[in-house]
Amino acid sequence: MKRLFLILFAASTLGMMENTLRFDQSKETTQSLTMPSGETVTYKAWEGIYFVTNIEDSVYQTLNFYFPDGADQNTPILLRTYVGGYMASTAKSPSADDATGRALLEGYAVCIPGSRGSNSTVKRGGGTIYTGRAPAALLDLKAAVRYLKFNDQLMPGDANRIISDGTSAGGAMSALLGATGNHPLYQPYLQAMGAAPATDDIFAAVCYCPITDLDYADAAYEWLYFNVRSEDDSHDTLSKLLASTYLSRINALNMRSIFTGEPVNPTNYRDYVKQFLINSLQHAQDEGTDLPDSIGIVRFEQRSMPFAAMTDGNRPPVDGRAAPMMGRGGLMQFAPRKSEFIIDLNLDTYLRYVASTQPLKQVPAFDALNILGGEASAENNVFGDDKGNPANFSLTVTHVNGTVIDQATQKRVRLYNPMCFIDDMQSSVAPNWYIRHGARDRDTAFTVSINLATKLSNSGRNVDFALPYNRPHSGDYNLNDLFRWIKSIAE
Ligand code: DHB
Repeated sequence: MKRLFLILFAASTLGMMENTLRFDQSKETTQSLTMPSGETVTYKAWEGIYFVTNIEDSVYQTLNFYFPDGADQNTPILLRTYVGGYMASTAKSPSADDATGRALLEGYAVCIPGSRGSNSTVKRGGGTIYTGRAPAALLDLKAAVRYLKFNDQLMPGDANRIISDGTSAGGAMSALLGATGNHPLYQPYLQAMGAAPATDDIFAAVCYCPITDLDYADAAYEWLYFNVRSEDDSHDTLSKLLASTYLSRINALNMRSIFTGEPVNPTNYRDYVKQFLINSLQHAQDEGTDLPDSIGIVRFEQRSMPFAAMTDGNRPPVDGRAAPMMGRGGLMQFAPRKSEFIIDLNLDTYLRYVASTQPLKQVPAFDALNILGGEASAENNVFGDDKGNPANFSLTVTHVNGTVIDQATQKRVRLYNPMCFIDDMQSSVAPNWYIRHGARDRDTAFTVSINLATKLSNSGRNVDFALPYNRPHSGDYNLNDLFRWIKSIAE
């Protein structure tokens, strides 16, 4: 009897929940946006939809949904998160200046969910509760995905083709959505929140400068920048120590080169990283950008060409490989010329140029709280407690003073690290990835994005990855390129 009652109770709760989370098409408005080109895009809008039934924070746990004229049930959905600095973010309207407006113009549906974050609070029992510590933002975004999937038949657009997009901490969220689809570790939280009974894997993840792999981010940063930190830096010892620990991380990741398929190991890792930068520089140059040699570029030196190489005995080849010059004595000579081919990069010179455009972060760059006088970082805040106190979260503190991070925090750090899930058979990892990290973005080491792209590529995912030249920490740029890629996966 008691058991029957429980079953009936569970069924009716589920029924109620399903009703509350059912999409209401009638609440539609029509909106439009004028794009920078002067074009106007018109779309239907549904705003302020709660995506969980146990709403903890009514300011953030809502989503907005937009659907352009001419789209249909098969139209992919761009899910844009505006998470920045690991802070809370409300559901926003589309913008003509970023991928949301462009997506509508290109005929895609757009979903912009809000999510709790390190600074979101509610009043409860006379006190202030911090609602957005890790893993809250990711859970909200997953709940938004579940809402779209649960209502796929009722809502326009194809929830089996969700493309997430975010920048920086938002890029990390996008990577997490992509890497942790349907993973059972998140299920108890989502269930407690009253997320819709649906899957939460996505079709594609667009990640601009993801600030992720947080447990190893300090080591990565020092491994990359140690040589270019100023010599009298009192933080030298810690920088060196952190840098040295990164090599075991590289070993453990067990990566194969995207270029050659060869194993990536601590010995060849610096060259591997350099190759991504060389490719980026070569690409910029091929597109017509003038690159200063002073940033560490080494070009192939074209040798003077012997006369025998001339095609008809007295004229040089006409393909521009070596231009003739008249020497002072009137004799035909060949000027030694630097070729267009960038064959090497002095990495430290290049990194000094990066640091000259924006000062490096302090040591340590992420888990800074109370270490060498450091203040709480965005990451210390998001791993803080429900009273708003920031906390240490990584091996960095263990290296400094032997403090071991408690198990609960370790678990939350893991739940925020996409690298832990790429090879996990219980995860439905997105098949498509677009990852960009500006080639002068010093907010986290290039290696964070390089390793993410490499692991995904090694595991057979379709990865479009680049370090665009001269880009600082930013996102939703070169939208022509992004939408070329989206088109290529959506067709
Ligand atoms: C962001 C930037 C950072 O440098 C960081 O450590 C965390 C987040 C951001 O812009 O979201």
